[in-house]
Amino acid sequence: MPIDMTVNGESRRSIADPMTPLVDVLREEFHLTGAKPVCREGFCGACTVQLDGEPVVSCLTPAGLAAGCEIRTIEGLSAGGRLNPVQAKLAEHDAVQCGMCFPGMVVTLTHFLAHTPRPSRDEVRAALTGNACRCTGYERIVAAALDAAGA
Ligand code: FES
Ligand code: FES
Repeated sequence: MPIDMTVNGESRRSIADPMTPLVDVLREEFHLTGAKPVCREGFCGACTVQLDGEPVVSCLTPAGLAAGCEIRTIEGLSAGGRLNPVQAKLAEHDAVQCGMCFPGMVVTLTHFLAHTPRPSRDEVRAALTGNACRCTGYERIVAAALDAAGA
């Protein structure tokens, strides 16, 4: 049975088995390759997308669970080819190296800052506990997030 969902504002239909990880449907069926299946165990956060407005790890989210839901991926967080404020500040702070973790970081931080517009450093760090970066360390990422909050 097909699985209907809305992805970045567009109606999409998947023909995948309902237990297929959402990240695979997004990447292989819908060709949205921003979310990255890195650990596939729910630890790294590189596959984070928003499901009905809440960040989820799409490697552990069965596609069937997304039926009738609104999915927003990194591709849906910027408009008109312009970076969103979180992306712009991460770039400005030179916080990106390989970039593997960043789709998830941006999805998480965009959601977090929308709900916590004036966070403390500790709140930013807590918000990122589910997103691992093996390249940069976290100082620049946290600084960029605090800067984005003030922007
Ligand atoms: S790939 Fe989903 S949490 Fe790591
Ligand atoms: S920039 Fe490489 S894992 Fe974060």
